[in-house]
Amino acid sequence: MAYEQNLTCFSTFGEERSWSLETYEKKQGYEAWRKILAGKLTREQVIDEIKASGLRGRGGAGFPTGLKWSFMPRDADVQKYLVCNSDESEPGTCHDREVLRYNPHALVEGMAIASYAMGVTIAYNYIRGEFIDEPVPRFEGAVREAYEAGLLGQNIQGSGIGLDLYTFVGAGAYICGEETALLESLEGKQGKPRFKPPFPANFGLYGKPTTINNTQSLASVPAIIRNGATWFAGLGPEGSGGTALFSVSGHIEKPGNYELPMGIPFKDLLELCGGVWKGRKLKAVIPGGSSCKVMPAEIIMDCTMDYNSLQQAGSSFGTGAVMVMDETTCMVKVLRRIARFYMAESCGQCTPCREGTGWLYRMLTRIVEGKGEEEDLGKLLDVANKIEGHTICALGDAAAWPVQSFLKHYYHEFEYMVRNRGRSIVEGNTEAAA
Ligand SMILES: Cc1cc2nc3c(=O)[nH]c(=O)nc-3n(C[C@H](O)[C@H](O)[C@H](O)COP(=O)(O)O)c2cc1C
Repeated sequence: MAYEQNLTCFSTFGEERSWSLETYEKKQGYEAWRKILAGKLTREQVIDEIKASGLRGRGGAGFPTGLKWSFMPRDADVQKYLVCNSDESEPGTCHDREVLRYNPHALVEGMAIASYAMGVTIAYNYIRGEFIDEPVPRFEGAVREAYEAGLLGQNIQGSGIGLDLYTFVGAGAYICGEETALLESLEGKQGKPRFKPPFPANFGLYGKPTTINNTQSLASVPAIIRNGATWFAGLGPEGSGGTALFSVSGHIEKPGNYELPMGIPFKDLLELCGGVWKGRKLKAVIPGGSSCKVMPAEIIMDCTMDYNSLQQAGSSFGTGAVMVMDETTCMVKVLRRIARFYMAESCGQCTPCREGTGWLYRMLTRIVEGKGEEEDLGKLLDVANKIEGHTICALGDAAAWPVQSFLKHYYHEFEYMVRNRGRSIVEGNTEAAA
């Protein structure tokens, strides 16, 4: 099946100097914002349009964006904030940085439209510290150009609408992508998640009403307002509107970011990316970043890449970061690597996560080093189950889900390694077993 790769919510990708205002405006950039500035769309109309489009948050949880916007007390006479989450640290995910790098004006415009809809006059973009080389200056350059063109600031073009937009560069902690840890960090404190409720819509940045949205979610907004909710919703299946940027990595011939319709069959996505590398057989896929449950080939081969299909098949869409593993992959070693990440990134606030993630990693290390016992497999699951749902934020769940799903689908590999004192089931299969 053929897919038009230029559908597109991110219209300047691939264009010369795609990050410049000039290029963006040639591709209908700021048309939607100008329409709003000209008084042709009310705030309610914008929110209704986003709701009808079926756009769901691309930051991982898939919460409907329009509905989230409607929770903001937009008429309350207090300072309200919009915060864009450009922390992008979920392993496998690498598309938000591309929006900042190559299409930053779509994000600026999306933030402006969202702010208008929610009665926000101050917005921040919280950008991951490691993006200081190119994505940060590109985004800041776009903000500067927008101010100079009279598209941001106070009483913009005499419309009575005002928005000031600032960049905040983080220090490279995964936990600061969690929305309330992000707010703490933005306030200059340690990035430790807050208890919810109260939710940020009522008690957010500096205790004021705040909406936090992912980069891709916000950058999708201008195209929706420009082309209409029906257009966007029609690109994907029921419950999963639009296109998404898929970050495809691992054992794949053509890894990269692909903008494709939601609901594309996994088989087609695989084919578009050149198939499994070296002509090998597909073994497993993590469909939405490392915290999503792993899916054996025979299950994902029948799935479409959208929220409902992946959830029904036992995993989730997550961030759309598709990690492909071929037949030579040792699942025990992959899980150990993932466990190390969550152990290192736990903020330490909640005991089950702080202690449990270390237990998981150490037990898996013991198994890989040939010192594991069969009872460790039960303990692994037990520890994971005791973390899941028992922490302030979802980092605990993110650490538990891979363990639960790897053991569910590949128990025999763990058992084999324990019984064979650290020898992997795939060893000798090929030199690429890692
Ligand atoms: C540990 C952890 C890390 C997260 N990291 C990110 C991130 O890097 N970027 C992001 O957009 N959302 C991240 N999230 C999700 C955010 O908390 C939040 O749901 C999201 O930014 C909301 O935007 P959306 O509704 O547009 O998806 C993370 C969540 C958790 C629990």
